[in-house]
Amino acid sequence: MEISPEIHNKLVQIVGSSYVFLDQETRNHYGHDETEDYVFPPHVVVKPANAFEISEIMKLANEYKIPVTPIGGRTGLSGGALSIHKGIGLSTERLNKILEIDERNLQVTTEPAVITQVLREAVAEKNLFYPPDPSSQGSCWIGGNVAENAGGARAVKYGVTKDYVLNLEVVLPSGEIIWTGANTLKNSTGYNLTQLMVGSEGTLGIITKIVMKLLPKNSNNVLMLVPFYKANEACEAVSAIFRAGIIPSALEFMERDAIDWTLQFVEGLNVQVPDAIQAHLLIEVDGNYPDILFQEAEKIMNVVEQFQIDEVLFADTEDQKNALWKMRRSVAEAVKANSIYKEEDTVVPRYELPKLLTGIKQIGNKYGFKSVCYGHAGDGNLHVNIIKGDMTDENWNTEVTKGIREIFELTVSLKGTLSGEHGIGFVQKNYMDIAFSKVQLQLMKGIKSIFDPNGILNPGKIFPDS
Ligand code: LAC
Ligand code: ZN
Repeated sequence: MEISPEIHNKLVQIVGSSYVFLDQETRNHYGHDETEDYVFPPHVVVKPANAFEISEIMKLANEYKIPVTPIGGRTGLSGGALSIHKGIGLSTERLNKILEIDERNLQVTTEPAVITQVLREAVAEKNLFYPPDPSSQGSCWIGGNVAENAGGARAVKYGVTKDYVLNLEVVLPSGEIIWTGANTLKNSTGYNLTQLMVGSEGTLGIITKIVMKLLPKNSNNVLMLVPFYKANEACEAVSAIFRAGIIPSALEFMERDAIDWTLQFVEGLNVQVPDAIQAHLLIEVDGNYPDILFQEAEKIMNVVEQFQIDEVLFADTEDQKNALWKMRRSVAEAVKANSIYKEEDTVVPRYELPKLLTGIKQIGNKYGFKSVCYGHAGDGNLHVNIIKGDMTDENWNTEVTKGIREIFELTVSLKGTLSGEHGIGFVQKNYMDIAFSKVQLQLMKGIKSIFDPNGILNPGKIFPDS
């Protein structure tokens, strides 16, 4: 059912005619995020100005049983912002202000449509630190980070988005507006609605204000790139570094292809990779005292030298550091530019990483696909890019699906799970039975139906089709 003139009129009454869009171009634009090449345009795009208008839209949607999909920066990798069931695409883009940086309490209150990097830079100007740094930080929005519980490279030392969210203003599917908790660092008061909302992928409510804690900014870091002759040994070195008593502020893994493709994709990166190198670890330690950081870097050297490595590159200028980070952050885009692909976001306890990598390659051989792996090795979080290359469409649609199922079965058998930071959304929902029993899924569905009895908010996500 398209949007009727009556509903269209009511939407115009709520947000004003300049903020309701029926044209195909706008609907297509808001119909995709960064998930593969999916496009699911909503029937109508609306751009409310505030929580009150969002509340009125939700009341209308409930009355007429119209699906509503919250849309943020559209950088997601699991399809959370796709309007699978059409209806209303609700862009939060006008809620784009940082409301307060509270230097007394080390907190920030922000609206959802602030670009993560803008938020990080705004607090840094006041000598404060918001650590979560997804690779898409230059374009993703903080609201989407909360909705997906986004991670990033610094999560290994500082935690993910959830670890910074203290309190949320949320418009519920019913249209009611609530705060979920309190602006405190501790809270043992009732169920934790704040953390229930974090990572709920826009299925339980629409986030309109976020209160986050901040840290004092630290002033120094050491960044090193370690080339390994064997990819598996790079994975083994990861847990060895922690066992040597070091918590790096980043510990990233990149397979050879991930680096080669990125060097082709991004101009001006001056990084030499010797032949026969299979993988790299990009390792950072941070803090305030250079002496301590150099001692920690030395300890890391002692660990990695027990494996077959080539010469370690220490980034000694800011430019070199930025180039290495740019290389790492561009991997996903470089893969996307190279081939049709599917990206999995597997995560296991970090000591199991070598088994995960070996298993993924074996499964690829069995089903005839190549994979390029990279990611947040310190967290045991491996992004698996399955490359279409010259596979037939038929094999791509049948064999790869079986292979992905086996990869997830492997992660769960290693006591890991399906997604570490990208979410389930649309693309992983039919694998949820691997991670959860019927009882567990029923509990989650029960929560969903208490919040959203008519199933109108972001339908078609998280829960398996059947
Ligand atoms: C990264 C994104 C894809 O780690 O999660 O680059
Ligand atoms: Zn990542």
